[in-house]
Amino acid sequence: MSDTVLQLLNVESAYGPIKAIRGVSLKVRQGEIATVLGSNGAGKTTILKTISGIIDPRKGSIEFRGQNITAKDPAYIVQQGLSHVPEGREVFPLLSVRDNLLMGAYTRKDRDGVARDIETVYGYFPILKERAAQDAGLLSGGQQQMLAISRAIMAAPQLILLDEPSLGLSPKLTKEIFEIVVRINRERGTTILLVEQNANMALNASDYGYVLENGRIVIEDTCERLREKEDIKEFYLGLKDDGVRGERRWKKKKTWR
Ligand SMILES: Nc1ncnc2c1ncn2[C@@H]1O[C@H](COP(=O)(O)OP(=O)(O)OP(=O)(O)O)[C@@H](O)[C@H]1O
Ligand SMILES: [Mg+2]
Repeated sequence: MSDTVLQLLNVESAYGPIKAIRGVSLKVRQGEIATVLGSNGAGKTTILKTISGIIDPRKGSIEFRGQNITAKDPAYIVQQGLSHVPEGREVFPLLSVRDNLLMGAYTRKDRDGVARDIETVYGYFPILKERAAQDAGLLSGGQQQMLAISRAIMAAPQLILLDEPSLGLSPKLTKEIFEIVVRINRERGTTILLVEQNANMALNASDYGYVLENGRIVIEDTCERLREKEDIKEFYLGLKDDGVRGERRWKKKKTWR
């Protein structure tokens, strides 16, 4: 049996005349954390939206656990075991923290499993337990990120798509969130596809990486090898700073390999 959970072949997506991704092929293997790295506007969010059915691709195909999910309904794709944590979190602000978590589990019938998973996410993020009865809209940005990730876990998915969890967070909080993402992967065996501008954090947390530029994948390798390649680090990933969004310098490509 194949160990490939998700496979994109030559996927193209556009917004009207604007081609956002141009023939993206990638694979996510069972049990790994895979990452797509790229600067503003590279097409990272578009890849995730196309996988989860929010955008229909113009070309190409997407297979999830051996099944063709290209352009299927987002609700159907969630039911197949794929959860998407969107960029900018998108929690339900007027629902309590606990109700947000239960929304994540709305398709599940195993009440005991749901109760257990709520305790698990409270273990990962104790602040969510403290704030369980409070409206989610009152949480800080970092706490909302924790809630959005936790809500995805509540669906008990096979694969989580994670869109820039570091967005707007301090380096310290970003580090904490990444540690939990790695624990979710290791402890629950959940496969994760993470897109990030924060190359430092993503390369350290992930097993396999793709670098996206202008809607195309320009390199892929194990993260171990990507971390070692000086030219990639310098020209694509801007890794001469501390990796904080906003301070990162995405340099123009001068040479390739
Ligand atoms: N709703 C939209 N309508 C028109 N163009 C869009 C839309 N959303 C994204 N785009 C364009 O598609 C391209 C890819 O955008 P996308 O949001 O996928 O990039 P990204 O890599 O996620 O960037 P960021 O790191 O800033 O989140 C960009 O050129 C962007 O301007
Ligand atoms: Mg984005």
